[in-house]
Formats: sequence, structure tokens, C-alpha cells
Amino acid sequence: MKSSEEYLQSLKQWLRETEDSPLEEMSDFFTKRLEGYEEHMSVWKTSYRLFAEALPRECRKILDLGCGTGLELDQIWQLNPDMEVTGIDLCESMLDKLRDKHPDKRLTLICGDYFQYDPGCGKWDAVISFESLHHFLPERKEELYRKLFRALKDGGVFILGDYIACCGEEEELLRDTCLKRRKRDSIPEDRFVHFDIPLTLEHETSLLQNAGFRIEKVLEGDAVIIVGRKAEK
Ligand SMILES: C[S@@+](CC[C@H](N)C(=O)[O-])C[C@H]1O[C@@H](n2cnc3c(N)ncnc32)[C@H](O)[C@@H]1O
Repeated sequence: MKSSEEYLQSLKQWLRETEDSPLEEMSDFFTKRLEGYEEHMSVWKTSYRLFAEALPRECRKILDLGCGTGLELDQIWQLNPDMEVTGIDLCESMLDKLRDKHPDKRLTLICGDYFQYDPGCGKWDAVISFESLHHFLPERKEELYRKLFRALKDGGVFILGDYIACCGEEEELLRDTCLKRRKRDSIPEDRFVHFDIPLTLEHETSLLQNAGFRIEKVLEGDAVIIVGRKAEK
């Protein structure tokens, strides 16, 4: 296991080595890597299982943000085959693969941007997201978390499984690098690119709390899993 210092050194080295690579548009990035995607993500196998177990069994109606090919859903449906899921993702080819894997499930798929999507009010037992939200700035995420809080039923949960920065220095380094590269490549503010800008656990949980969630559980494994609840009135 690397210390934070060693980890930061190797991250800085990797950023130097990839300095000249142009940023890739989000959906193109995943389309190009579709073949081999699930194999690549299999390192998170234990986290997918823990993530599925964190979802309360009584949940019926679930919204999955950035569902991709549905690796988290594979696990969730193993535990509870009747869950009704709406999945939203920017990348049509990832959604096609998810659709092909689960023709027998109660699944609605939307190809679109979850920041633009209207999830309604008091509608969902749970909103989930695995390994998708670490691409966005905190201001944007906090606004999304407020929208999700309104969209959940009272007592509902938001479960986030994601890559978390080990310290403030990592968070700052990646955000600054991303902003510099966006400027260098003349990427307009509203275009999504694939570059990881994770937050520290403290920062992520404070955004959720600001949006109204009570943090009920934090599981720190390969991915960090945070369970936030919308308390019953
Ligand atoms: C690393 S993949 C994770 C997919 C899936 N949750 C999993 O764990 O296998 C990230 C996914 O988030 C999607 N994504 C990123 N930003 C998005 C946005 N603003 N709206 C919808 N989907 C988005 C990408 O297209 C991609 O499929």
C-alpha cells in the first residue's frame, strides 16, 4: 500500500508524462474503450458488491446516474431481481450493452446528461451513482445534490460510490491541471471531458450535507461509498 506522499509523486509523474495528450470528450472516451471496459473495471469488484449491499432491500424505484454498462446493477439485481431502475448516461454504446445484458429486467434507459435531467419531486426510493461524479467541479455537484434531495421520497437514500482524493493537495492538483488543459484545448465550459477531478471525503460529504443529506454510512475500500439519507419529516 503506497503512502499519500508516494501516491502523489506517482500521480505528478503520470501528469507530466501525459501533459501533451489532448482532453477527450466524455462520451467518445467511453465509446472508444467499450471493448474491454468491464474487464478494466473488474478491479473494483469488491466495491460493486459492497455498493449493492448498501442499498436497502426495501427500495423499489431506483435512479442510477452514469449507469454505463451497469456493473453496479449486475450486483444489485443479484440481490434484488425486482428492483425497477431508470439509468441515465451520456454514452449510447454503454447503454446498448446494458440493455443487451438485462433484457428481462424492469429497466428504463435515458441517453442524456444527468445535470439536465429532471428527476421530479419525492419520486425515488434511492438514487445511486458509481464512478461517474468525480469528473465534475464541486459547485456543479452541490446543485445536483440539491436536485436529488428534492427528487427522493422522505426516508430515501443517495448512495455514491466514487474515487475520492487522498488529500487537499491531490484535489487541488487535479482540478488545476484539468482547468489548465481545458483552457489550452479551448474547451467551452458546457462540454464534458474525461479527466478525473475527485474531491476529498470531507469536501464530498460537506456538499451532501449542504444539500440536506444526513450522512449515514461511509465505507472506505477501493472506491469510497457514502450513504446519505433524506430524513423522514
Ligand atoms: C467510469 S463510467 C461508470 C459506469 C458505471 N456506473 C460503472 O461503474 O460501470 C462513468 C460513466 O458516467 C457517464 N457520465 C459522465 N458524465 C455524465 C453526465 N453528465 N451525464 C450522464 N452520464 C455521464 C459516462 O458516460 C460513463 O458511462
